[in-house]
Amino acid sequence: MDMEIFLDTAEIEEIDLFRDFIDGVTTNPSLMARSKFDNCDELIKAICGMVSGPVSVEVLSDDSDMMLEEGKRLSAIHGNVCVKLPCTLGGLRVCRQLSKIGIMTNLTLCFSSTQALLAAQCGATYVSPFIGRLDDVGHDGIGLVKEILEIYDACGYRTKVLSASVRNISHVIQSARLGAGAITMPAKILQQCFLHPLTDAGLETFRKDWNNRRTN
Ligand code: G3P
Repeated sequence: MDMEIFLDTAEIEEIDLFRDFIDGVTTNPSLMARSKFDNCDELIKAICGMVSGPVSVEVLSDDSDMMLEEGKRLSAIHGNVCVKLPCTLGGLRVCRQLSKIGIMTNLTLCFSSTQALLAAQCGATYVSPFIGRLDDVGHDGIGLVKEILEIYDACGYRTKVLSASVRNISHVIQSARLGAGAITMPAKILQQCFLHPLTDAGLETFRKDWNNRRTN
C-alpha cells in the first residue's frame, strides 16, 4: 500500500510549492499560531482548497464535551478536515464518538505503544508517534513506530501509523522501510528528500554538453 505523505505546516506558500505531490497537510496549534492568517477557519478552508486529501487540525479544548463539539465544528468546515486529538482519556473518548459518526481522527502526541493501542481500539483513522521528540529525550522514536506497527499487524487494527515530529531524512527512510502508512514532515525535510548534489552536477554536465554540441 502507498505511504501517504503529508506536509507539516500551516504556511500557504509552502503548501503551494509541494501541492502536486503531497497527499495532505498536518497542522498543530504552534504552527497555526505562526501563520499569517488571523482567522483560523479561513486558513483551514484555504488549506483544504489546495490539497485533495486529509488536513489535520487540532482541537484546543481540554474538556471532552467541548472537545467533541470543537471536533464536530472543525469537521464541518470542510469534508477533508481530520480532527487531531491528544492521546489522553478525553481525546480517546472523543475519538470513539467521532469515529462512530464517520469523522476522520488523528491521535496526536503519541509517545507509547499502549496509547497507540487504545487509539486503534477507539477507531482512530491515524495515530501520530512523535519520533523526534522521543529522540530528544534519549528514547527511540523509530523503535516506537516499529512496535506500534507490530501491534497493529498482530491485532489486525486498521488505524494508520503516521510518523510525526520528523527531523531528518533517516526518520523518513526508516518509517518507509518499516511500512508506516503515512508520514508528515516539514518543508525543509521534504526538500531534502529530492535534493542530491549528483543530480545537480549531472544536470549541469548535460546542459554544458548540449550547449557545446557540434552544430554542422
Ligand atoms: O505534527 C507534529 C509535529 O509537528 C511535531 O514536530 O518538530 O515540533 O516535534 P516537532
